[in-house]
Amino acid sequence: MSEIQKRDEWGSRVGLILAVAGNAVGLGNFLRFPVQAAQNGGGAFMIPYFIFFLILGIPLMWMEWGIGRYGGKFGHGSAPGMFDVICKNRFAKYLGALGLFISMIIMIYYTYIESQTLGFSFFSITKLYFDETSFDAMRNFLYSYQGRELGHHFSSIWTSYGFMVATFFINFWVLYKGISRGIEKLAKIAMPMLFVFAIILTVRVITLGTPNPDLPENSVENGFAFIWNPNFSLLANPSVWLAAAGQIFFTLSVGMGTIQAYASFLKPKDDIALSALTTASTNEFTEVVLGGSIAIPAAVAFFGITVTTQIAQGGAFDLGFVSMPLIFQQIPFGEFFGFMWFLLLFFAGITSSVAMGQPVVAFLEDELGLDRKKAVSVLAFTVFISVQFVVFFLKFGFLDELDYWAGTFGLVVFALLETLLFMWVFDSKKAWEEMNAGGDIKIPRVFYYIMKFITPVVLFGIMVWWFFNDAIPILMLSNANPDNVPYIWGARILMIALCLLLFFLIHLAWKRKESDT
Ligand code: PHE
Repeated sequence: MSEIQKRDEWGSRVGLILAVAGNAVGLGNFLRFPVQAAQNGGGAFMIPYFIFFLILGIPLMWMEWGIGRYGGKFGHGSAPGMFDVICKNRFAKYLGALGLFISMIIMIYYTYIESQTLGFSFFSITKLYFDETSFDAMRNFLYSYQGRELGHHFSSIWTSYGFMVATFFINFWVLYKGISRGIEKLAKIAMPMLFVFAIILTVRVITLGTPNPDLPENSVENGFAFIWNPNFSLLANPSVWLAAAGQIFFTLSVGMGTIQAYASFLKPKDDIALSALTTASTNEFTEVVLGGSIAIPAAVAFFGITVTTQIAQGGAFDLGFVSMPLIFQQIPFGEFFGFMWFLLLFFAGITSSVAMGQPVVAFLEDELGLDRKKAVSVLAFTVFISVQFVVFFLKFGFLDELDYWAGTFGLVVFALLETLLFMWVFDSKKAWEEMNAGGDIKIPRVFYYIMKFITPVVLFGIMVWWFFNDAIPILMLSNANPDNVPYIWGARILMIALCLLLFFLIHLAWKRKESDT
């Protein structure tokens, strides 16, 4: 055990729960989930979704809280140090680099998308897009804002750039304020507002009825039917199952290193068993009940099933930033509902993006002895340089490449590693005691076997499947647009460079500790 400096702490139990729920509740709940559900069999999607929630999501939540609190006892707030104490092998800490890498890469592009929600909340209240009344016009508005196709409304990328800089600034400022005075305070303001906004919007959507009496089939009832009517035949398709697993990972923020980072600030006897369950359930309520009731049902009520199917196929941007603004233009006080929708997304986003920054900040503080100001500056510098490529090369697939390796494939690899290290190398009995210690409930015994056997086997299966079906074709650029190839390579070089930098810093940190003792 090396120098244990006074670490930050959560101020209150409610604050902690709101912060971890804020970490999990994000853009994924309101944009990614409805698109995934609509594309993958509607109500039938909920079957694999809940199975994976039980055998991957919840077990990983408990394990990550356990790993985090355990690492925190030794003064470690990020995966390299945590892996080092649960597994005595000297290479383990290098595997932990993945827990820094994934969260940092996701932060780079996620925060940029989050800044667009802030931009659109302004454009809603100022009615800036209110004369874009067709899909094409609204999409052009979005694309010109993003700098993909300039000229339509925005003649330069600088408006978008300004919102991006402001959003990053707020994120780093919260991180600089620390755990209780930054992240917890933000969660205590943003999370209640988020729930209020989401409930207001849900009620507004439910009361839409049949907006156009001439088209009775375009109703909100059919909207709910569209997202929830099960199409069981799709369950024979493995891609539906993999989509469900991917959504569970992304929405619960497991397999990224951020839950562990938050849990490292618990006291050794603080409850894990109930808190982890509460945060996971809060996320699921927000996702399935609120996230499933807004964008898709509203789209069906206004545009009908056929068009909504196309919107869902177009992805989260078409749903959130094109379809919704068109609807706001057609309802009374639409500018306020639009403002609320995008601000809701912004709050959901920011309580997640600060979580993505925390592992690297903790690493620089705990392992390299930097003070918080320096640690946040180093992260800010790295992320800010990297985001330039994301902003300027958006249309060339730069973001998608980062998203695939860090935001999809990487999560499974990291989750498998931590499960094996905790349940097999550290020892399953010790791990079980660790997760239950101080618990306000007892974790049902069946989860012991799930965590030890089922979770790793399922993770391995998903990893292998993804490796052969997606990772290899993506790696070999099989379906890539030739124009994008140089940019895709650029994204890869950036990821490799950041990975090497992390390995080097881990090496340096432990060298430094050895010479200290
Ligand atoms: N869970 C968040 C969402 O649903 C995303 C996230 C990813 C948060 C990685 C933290 C870390 O949007």
